[in-house]
Amino acid sequence: MGEEKEVKRVIGLMSGTSCDSIDAGLCEVYPDLSVKLVKGINHPYPEHISAKIFSAFRDELSIKDLCQLNFAVGQCFADAAKILIEEFGRPDFISSHGQTVYHYPYDTKLDNISLKSTLQIGESSVIAEETGCMVISNFREKDIACGGQGAPLVCFADEKWFKNALVQNIGGISNVTVISDECETFGFDTGCGNIMIDYCVQKFFGQKFDKDGEIASRGKICESWLDCLLQDEYYYLNPPKTTGREYFSNQYIENILRTAPEDKADIIATLTALTARTIAQAYERFISFRYDTVIIGGGGAYNKTMMKFLRGYLPKYVQLKTHEDYGISNNFKEVMAFVLLGYCNYYNIPNNLPSCTGAQKRTVLGKVTY
Ligand SMILES: Nc1ncnc2c1ncn2[C@@H]1O[C@H](COP(=O)(O)OP(=O)(O)O)[C@@H](O)[C@H]1O
Ligand SMILES: [Mg+2]
Repeated sequence: MGEEKEVKRVIGLMSGTSCDSIDAGLCEVYPDLSVKLVKGINHPYPEHISAKIFSAFRDELSIKDLCQLNFAVGQCFADAAKILIEEFGRPDFISSHGQTVYHYPYDTKLDNISLKSTLQIGESSVIAEETGCMVISNFREKDIACGGQGAPLVCFADEKWFKNALVQNIGGISNVTVISDECETFGFDTGCGNIMIDYCVQKFFGQKFDKDGEIASRGKICESWLDCLLQDEYYYLNPPKTTGREYFSNQYIENILRTAPEDKADIIATLTALTARTIAQAYERFISFRYDTVIIGGGGAYNKTMMKFLRGYLPKYVQLKTHEDYGISNNFKEVMAFVLLGYCNYYNIPNNLPSCTGAQKRTVLGKVTY
């Protein structure tokens, strides 16, 4: 408490809703809350582990399996950290987001008891023991306990690092942080990012994702199907709002595919357009002032077709940039953000933004494992 802040070396560990890899990054955090990435790696999950995580997404995992998976994912996260430790030595501490397996941001009540909840696995005790480092983890729970949705948390970092810009992450889910002199920083999930594209590319083309948006570039947008998909009520809800695989589930995707066009590349093109269009529409609906700069991050930044569609849907005067234009890796931006949240926890600095999560107060997120 009140301790003088120092530069810290922190390893951040993160795996998002795409479940494409464990992103691990060694960072330096400075007292002014800026973060520099020293080295980042994408560490794949063993096939059987990612298969289990996808079973959890489908709600097809027993409690026994989930219990085991929590420790197994902790081991995988530790393995990722150890690669960096071997090269650079032990950091001051590790900041681990964990792997979200369930996120329920709705305040449904049963006998007056709220069901709002979130679950990130990747046991921090395993990471701490395997690496010999202190671990700060489990950031989302405290925000929910304070009445928030436990997401989006990255907005806190965006506000520290950017000025007058819309910072748009396109991961499995897409989320934006609105930073402006005109208003308090706010943020929300705009809808799907790559979840539906990944699912359909896997289903129809046997690939994990649409590299560089190549398949989408071969298809054409089916405007009538796109219009139909845009009717989903999520896009009309006022922020703060978050979403996830619980909503945009495999069942949801199978359901929309019943009215999809014949041509498989057209399906991918239209789903790619859907992500771009819902982002642009969210800005039209929920941002009431003029904005000039949109900064894209996350894996979607590498999808050239998605970026092209987004360019077309945004007003002409808006500059479309990626994090790389600001010297921040699109791939490791979220890792860097959770490193910052860990640093703030270490120094007892509130690290949630109630205007983004809906929490009733600012609070210090994260739990410590020594
Ligand atoms: N080169 C690329 N071309 C197109 N899409 C990509 C590329 N690289 C990553 N992606 C997409 O980004 C997703 C991963 O993004 P990421 O930001 O890691 O999301 P999450 O936080 O959900 O893990 C992949 O599943 C894939 O759909
Ligand atoms: Mg990822």
